[in-house]
Amino acid sequence: MNEVYEFNWVEVADYDEMSRLAAELFEQQVNKKPDSVLGLATGASPIGFYRNLVDRYVKGRISFANVQTFNLDEYTGLEFSHPTSFYSYMEEHLFTKVDLPAIHRHLPDGEAANLNEECVRYERVIRESGGIDIQLLGIGVNGHIGFNEPGTPFHSRTHIVKLAESTRARNAKYFPSAEEFPRQAITMGIQTILEAKKIILLAFGEEKTEAIERLRSGNVSKDFPASCLHRHSNVTVLYGK
Ligand code: F6R
Repeated sequence: MNEVYEFNWVEVADYDEMSRLAAELFEQQVNKKPDSVLGLATGASPIGFYRNLVDRYVKGRISFANVQTFNLDEYTGLEFSHPTSFYSYMEEHLFTKVDLPAIHRHLPDGEAANLNEECVRYERVIRESGGIDIQLLGIGVNGHIGFNEPGTPFHSRTHIVKLAESTRARNAKYFPSAEEFPRQAITMGIQTILEAKKIILLAFGEEKTEAIERLRSGNVSKDFPASCLHRHSNVTVLYGK
């Protein structure tokens, strides 16, 4: 881990500004290095960001032809095509709308016969790609990043997680019934995330205020996973309410 750290805090006026600034940072990255490796997230926070990226693609400002993407996480036991899988989310918001080749789109395979082996494979493919140039993150109200819930060791790599009750409660709305909500997911670990060269964290809305204040306090503890970002040298937080 890097001992020298610096946080770039950018307060945005609204969700659209956050989305635009994040898309701008990704556009700069890809235009500087067309075969960039992008780390991506799902959830409510990045929807506007993806809309913005697609818009830039349509206007010919960015091409994903040589890019590779790695998503942070995926539920286990859901088919790729299940409407609430993160794969479906990515298809809806990005994959089917830009020129990113199918073989360059990577998510953990939550349906793999051997989930432990899948975690090892995912780490290997990230490594073989040359590593993540820029990683997008959201933040949970409990400070989770990816599905790294409070208590996750900072040295963790891609692993299987049991989802916290608060995360289940928050995401259950995307599923027809609480019983159908997966109990587990595969997520990049904290160390995996920290190895990205740049990190962009999006946090918008009142409900994220407390988490952002906690992150700003600078206290580093595994009880608040996002605090690990103080051990990274290139983090930009785009936040607002
Ligand atoms: C999503 C992910 C999660 C979310 C976080 C915030 O791939 O890994 O950590 O980023 O739960 O979710 P939203 O943006 O829906 O508030």
